[in-house]
Amino acid sequence: TAGSPSSGDLATHILQSLDKSSPLLSAEAFPAAGFVEVKAALDRLGSREMVTYDTIEREEAILEPEGEQIAASGSHEARVFDALRSAVDGLTVQDLEKTIGDKSVVKIGQGKAFKEKWISKTKDGKFKATVDSIRDVTKEQMQTIKETRTYPDAKLLTDLRKRKLVRMQKIISFRIHKGPKFALKIPEEATDLTADMIATGSWKTATFKPYNFKASGADQRAGALHPLNKVRAEFRQIFFEMGFEEMPTDKFVESGFWNFDVLFVPQQHPARDLQDTFYISDPESADVPRATSSEDTKDYAVYWDNVKAVHQDGKYGSIGYRYPWSGDESLRLVLRTHTTAISANMLHKLAAKRGPDGYIPPARYFSIDRVFRNESVDATHLAEFHQVEGVIADTNLTLGGLMEFMDIFFGKMGITDLKYKPAYNPYTEPSMEIFSYHKGLGKLIEIGNSGMFRPEMLESMGFPKDMRVYGWGLSLERPTMIKYGISNIRELLGHKVDLNFVQSSPAVRLDKD
Ligand code: PHE
Repeated sequence: TAGSPSSGDLATHILQSLDKSSPLLSAEAFPAAGFVEVKAALDRLGSREMVTYDTIEREEAILEPEGEQIAASGSHEARVFDALRSAVDGLTVQDLEKTIGDKSVVKIGQGKAFKEKWISKTKDGKFKATVDSIRDVTKEQMQTIKETRTYPDAKLLTDLRKRKLVRMQKIISFRIHKGPKFALKIPEEATDLTADMIATGSWKTATFKPYNFKASGADQRAGALHPLNKVRAEFRQIFFEMGFEEMPTDKFVESGFWNFDVLFVPQQHPARDLQDTFYISDPESADVPRATSSEDTKDYAVYWDNVKAVHQDGKYGSIGYRYPWSGDESLRLVLRTHTTAISANMLHKLAAKRGPDGYIPPARYFSIDRVFRNESVDATHLAEFHQVEGVIADTNLTLGGLMEFMDIFFGKMGITDLKYKPAYNPYTEPSMEIFSYHKGLGKLIEIGNSGMFRPEMLESMGFPKDMRVYGWGLSLERPTMIKYGISNIRELLGHKVDLNFVQSSPAVRLDKD
């Protein structure tokens, strides 16, 4: 059939041409074949040592459209001369333009024809020819270039390029030689050694197709980390670098006690409403808090009473909320609404390390895990998301220190110029929302919530008065959406996530834009 020959045909063609004359220049021997095709055929023959070849780069002169036009119809000046030669009485500019049909050809052509002294002007202002015949050198040059793709006079070529009649083009071509295993045909090649070949003994004379080690392999559909996991890994790295220990967050269900009461979220607080919090129906309640391991030496009954006292009557300098606190309410099971439930539990355990001298070792804890809120789902809210949370317990902690720490922590992710806004959390005082200017959105966006835990929360756990604890939290989804340019959270988490998106998302570096 007509059309471009397959590389098989071309390979045979190359072998046959090479038999007649070696070496061969591919651009001359196979002018119609494309570079890729020739290269493929040569690789095929080369891997079998049937040919050897080297690559030659050279520049060819190619006619621009105007050059093509001159090669076909003559130079502008020659066309002006031709038109005038057949008009015995000469022609006005208008007539000349009509005859040639191109104003710009007349404009440029008549000027040059004057210079060549091929034409002159009559007394009544007409143009007329002054010689019988001319030689159109420019046309001849164009034709030579069209045929040979070069011109012996390099200076002239440069000139023609400046006049935009010709351009130079890089041509890659191959000089092909016969190889040690040259033959007129590619021998038939077996790709597999079969049982049949062994049985008949035909393997002894068979030619086997060589392995192509240069072939790019088939696409591998390997496993891929979800973008949230990649950003999580970056955050963990930052925490570990800063001396933090990871908190065990491997439970989604908490009692109201740890999720709310120890954080002094009053039992009537709207956050505890059914509209905001998912309650567990089976079982409905937790056991009263108690030690779960032999190392846990805390007296949970004392803690329970302390928490109750702070809510109901006030203690540790707090006047309390002054309402009848319900133990049953406190034991209701919820899907944790924040990881601060875990932080509180960890701080309670830390307080147990208090020595006889009252000393508690400083600590830095973090966690990154899932939390649940009974929210109406939209483009930026889901009923579940991930929280990144950190706490630092030490003596001599100040609010200024918290701000400085935030600057360093977020700075490690490339988030700088933080702004702080006073906020309210039942468990921290003072509390601050953290904002950062988002260049893409052109405005300040909230990136976290923070504060210093209230003394009545810490003292009820057994912390001495001079020990302070910072805490802060942020969502994992927000920075992930920013880094991956996602505007709808449902594309990131939940059943609508496109697996191809997970497969093709690159690794993320928080400190790189
Ligand atoms: N629990 C807070 C939230 O969900 C974050 C926070 C943690 C704030 C610790 C202060 C201290 O937004």
